[in-house]
Amino acid sequence: MIISAMVAVGKGNVIGKDNDIPWRLPNDWKYLRKVTMGHSIILGRKNYESIGKPLDGRKNIIMTTNKNYRAQDCHIAYLIEHALSMCEGEEVFILGGEEIYRQFLPYTHKLYITRINHYFKGDRFFPEVDLALWKELSVEKGTQDENNHYEHYFHVYEKVN
Ligand SMILES: NC(=O)c1ccc[n+]([C@@H]2O[C@H](COP(=O)([O-])OP(=O)(O)OC[C@H]3O[C@@H](n4cnc5c(N)ncnc54)[C@H](OP(=O)(O)O)[C@@H]3O)[C@@H](O)[C@H]2O)c1
Repeated sequence: MIISAMVAVGKGNVIGKDNDIPWRLPNDWKYLRKVTMGHSIILGRKNYESIGKPLDGRKNIIMTTNKNYRAQDCHIAYLIEHALSMCEGEEVFILGGEEIYRQFLPYTHKLYITRINHYFKGDRFFPEVDLALWKELSVEKGTQDENNHYEHYFHVYEKVN
């Protein structure tokens, strides 16, 4: 099974503020939907509550330490190993937030990073990644328009063995 993490980062690796995303970039949301559709996805409880609903067409696995936690149409996991054992298919996507990315990074084979060329204020960050340990498989410039104001690039990396 390939374990992939998917994230959008502003300059300085900012990913969130006040349990929300600091920018609006519909292109990135469409990209995430396209890439993750049909796969298992793992989210932290805070990220899940920020989104507010399960992502359709995907097996949603929410991580929490709260044994009483319930979320409609979602699977609940209390440990990393537990979450991974619930995944189905060839590729599984770790969708954050910060706590979840940090803990799964050592297990991650592929990184899908949308890099937004803008500084945002934030309180959550993607961990520093040593790019010497990762090979870039592709990079594509996203289309900027009135709904997608910021310059952004879709990168895919694979861990070097
Ligand atoms: N830019 C992006 O691509 C992107 C993507 C995702 C999220 N975000 C942003 O990231 C922020 C949220 O990140 P966050 O770090 O605050 O929270 P998070 O990682 O989404 O969730 C943290 C919660 O996950 C549960 N958890 C963490 N590790 C666990 C473990 N080993 N076992 C069981 N449960 C575990 C705990 O839930 P309990 O407290 O219930 O025990 C913990 O409080 C938001 O601002 C969000 O918008 C950005």
